[in-house]
Amino acid sequence: MEIYLDTANIDEIREVVKMGVITGVTTNPSLMQRAGRGDYRQVTQEICYLVQGPISAEVVETEADKMYEEALEIAQWSPHVVIKIPVTADGLEAMSMLLASEVDADHICRDCQWVEQCPMDREYARELALAQGIGTNATLVFSTNQALLAALAGATYVSVFVGRLDDIGHEGMAVVAETAEIFASYGIESEIIAASIRHPLHVTDAALAGADIATVPYSILQKMVRHPLTDTGIDRFLEDWKQVGG
Ligand code: E4P
Repeated sequence: MEIYLDTANIDEIREVVKMGVITGVTTNPSLMQRAGRGDYRQVTQEICYLVQGPISAEVVETEADKMYEEALEIAQWSPHVVIKIPVTADGLEAMSMLLASEVDADHICRDCQWVEQCPMDREYARELALAQGIGTNATLVFSTNQALLAALAGATYVSVFVGRLDDIGHEGMAVVAETAEIFASYGIESEIIAASIRHPLHVTDAALAGADIATVPYSILQKMVRHPLTDTGIDRFLEDWKQVGG
């Protein structure tokens, strides 16, 4: 299972990228607000530059045609951008329209201020954007049926909001497990993201339930790294080493 970071905070992303454990990032308008950033394009492009992997950026339109237009615009920001679309009837329609569409590759990485430093040159970015098509992440998935519909509409990823289900007394991870079972039975290729992660055990459970990815807030990732026995173990090694004059 892969780990994505669930944040729009550039400092958090910079720090975690150095550990070499994340392969993507998910953002949403609330995370942008929490990071104090309204410049969605610039933030997203900087995250793409830092991570060089799938970065989900969410539409804020709610009608299918407008979501679609907004998605086409966002898709030009970088070949790494994945369009996050809520699972509604309009959202499903927008996803299926995007499945049959191509990004405007001549304008890929439009106005990106990281383009000079980026390891991916423009020509490669163009080819990548055309080869992979417009990726979509079906968000706000709270039931197995919503996950199935999103996959049928062509979503690249489906994001099951585990924590928010737990919050209202449902077993969020059961939706991940059922979705994984159904996708495996029918050879459905959409990847399952366990989202709305609230504690480290959610990450382990997501892996056991068959999620392809868990998208994890920075604070939870920190908790995953730490173990008190690791800390006391290091202290003891260093103390013993000092005693032999090391
Ligand atoms: C997923 O992509 C969402 O950004 C996120 O996991 C939402 O989590 P929350 O319930 O903590 O807001």
